[in-house]
Parts: sequence; structure tokens; C-alpha cells
Amino acid sequence: MINHTLSCWVIYNGSLTSEKFIDQAEMIKQSAERKNISCEIYKNYELTMEICEGNLRLGVIVDEKQKPDFVIFLDKDILLGRQLEQLGIPVYNPISAIERCDNKAIMYQTLANHGLPIPETIIAPKVYKGFELRDNQYYQYVISRLGFPMIIKEVHGSFGMKVYLIQDEIEFYDKIKELSGISFLFQKYIRSSHGRDLRINVVGDQAVATMYRHSETDFRANVSNGGRMEIYEPTAAQIELAVKCSQIMGTYFSGIDILFGENEEPIICEVNSNAHIRNIYDCTGVWVADYMIDFIINHLEETKNV
Ligand SMILES: Nc1ncnc2c1ncn2[C@@H]1O[C@H](COP(=O)(O)OP(=O)(O)O)[C@@H](O)[C@H]1O
Ligand SMILES: [Mg+2]
Repeated sequence: MINHTLSCWVIYNGSLTSEKFIDQAEMIKQSAERKNISCEIYKNYELTMEICEGNLRLGVIVDEKQKPDFVIFLDKDILLGRQLEQLGIPVYNPISAIERCDNKAIMYQTLANHGLPIPETIIAPKVYKGFELRDNQYYQYVISRLGFPMIIKEVHGSFGMKVYLIQDEIEFYDKIKELSGISFLFQKYIRSSHGRDLRINVVGDQAVATMYRHSETDFRANVSNGGRMEIYEPTAAQIELAVKCSQIMGTYFSGIDILFGENEEPIICEVNSNAHIRNIYDCTGVWVADYMIDFIINHLEETKNV
């Protein structure tokens, strides 16, 4: 049993000024406080990553505070997360899992070789500025493998903003030109899932909430992109796939996006290590942060980190 009052920091990226980021942090803080955990919310830039006299040091710009018992890391500032972990502070999700999810190419590579259904994907090679790959066979090969329409995804991106549906060769080459210097991948377009997918929130080994998202106006089902939400009872196969993805990625809590195959069979779209929880609450009434906090308390006890 933990025999002292726990303390935590919730860290989010202060350069993302949309209300939804602070809202996410506040929701988690509420759940922590319901369990008598004292909780401070910090923007990533309110903590400094210092290397001083040969040692790592963490400065707190706004207020000198004791190190917390744990951190809930809503940011993708991997270096800050690493600094915290190296200073011995448990970080949820583990920074290695956040790093794997943050880059969609690394995510698909991590999920591969487990026999899971993943859309056929080709990761674009690293090509330095000034080199023209177009004269090469490479792109013709990609087109012959994946056909049109085709999905192009930047490896870093959320809310559907960096995912593109490419109709033909003209759009294909235009997009590649536009993405010069940016990491991206090519992916088979799952036509049967046009404008619809599932979001399953997994905590530990449990699928705690699911919503069906569908858009009448866009191939992307993201709610931030105009998708509508509906309560949905996931099938055993969908749950099994979501939990397995989370385990392979090493996330303690995650939001798994699942596409629908031709026979409605589940196909992995992506794993989010920092799934927002407001929409799923509005849709299902499930307050995912309560599950997250319970998971962390148990995990700290099990790993004797408090
Ligand atoms: N291969 C695909 N085939 C069909 N639709 C896709 C495919 N990949 C993504 N989508 C659609 O685009 C949306 C955004 O893609 P996703 O990979 O989840 O990126 P993001 O991190 O921006 O949410 C998905 O929710 C889904 O509706
Ligand atoms: Mg997504």
C-alpha cells in the first residue's frame, strides 16, 4: 500500500494554444485529485532540461517544487520526457512508447511481424534536398504496388491534418514535391472504410471506451475534421486487436484507430499514445482519466516506485 499522499505533474505542450490541450490536462488533474493525488499542470517550457556540471538537472521556472512521484506526459517533447525518466521520475506513458507512436513509420514497423492486419505501407526513403528521385524507378514502383487512390501520410501528424488522399499521378507528384524534406509514407487506401473508423481507448489491457466516427464530407473520420461520433459496441476481434496493438507499442493508455475492411474485419490505422479524452467522454460518458489514474496507482505499487 502507498502510505503517503502522492503527487504528480501533468505536462502538456504550451505552444499548442488550442483550448483542447489544457482541457485534456484539466480532466486528468480532476481524476488525480479525486484520488487525493496532488497535481500540478505544467507547460513543457515551464521546465528546463539542463545539463549542468556534468549532470542532468531539471529546473522549474514558475515555482521551485519537489520532484513529483510521477508525471503524466501529454506532450511529444521526447527530450523532456527522457530527461524526467533519467532523473528517476516515472513517466506515463513511458517515453519509449510515446516515441514509437509519435512517428507513424516507426509505429508501423513496431507493429509489423506480429501477423496483424496493417494496410500495405511503403515508408518513403530519406532523400536530401536538391536530389531528384523522380527520374528514378522508385515512385513508379510505389504506384504500381499501391495504385490510386492512395494515402500519403506524414510520419508526424494528428487530427487528420497530415493525411492525404491522392487520386492520380499529378496529385501524387505535387504532394511529393510539397513534402520535400518531410518524412512521410505511402499507404494502401482502404476504400471500405472511407470516412469511417473506430476509436478504442485502451487502458492497461482493457478497452474502456469505443466510438464510431463517420464523416459525410471527408475520407478522414477525425472529429476535429468534421467526423461525427456514435456509441459503438466493439466486437471481440476489434477489442483483441486494439489491446494487442497497445501491448506491442508499450503504451499503458492509448487511443487505437481501427479501419473497416471489405468484410468489416478490423484493420489497424494507428496507435495514439496521447489520445484526447473529451470527445470520447461526450460520446460515451466514459471518463477515461479515472481509468488512467487507477492504472498508474496500481502500476506504481507493483513496481515499488513509491
Ligand atoms: N489507409 C487508409 N485508408 C482509408 N482511410 C484512412 C487510411 N489511413 C487513414 N485513414 C483515415 O484518415 C484518418 C486519419 O488518419 P490517421 O492515420 O489516424 O492520422 P491522424 O494521426 O492524423 O489521426 C483516419 O481516422 C481514417 O479515417
Ligand atoms: Mg488518428
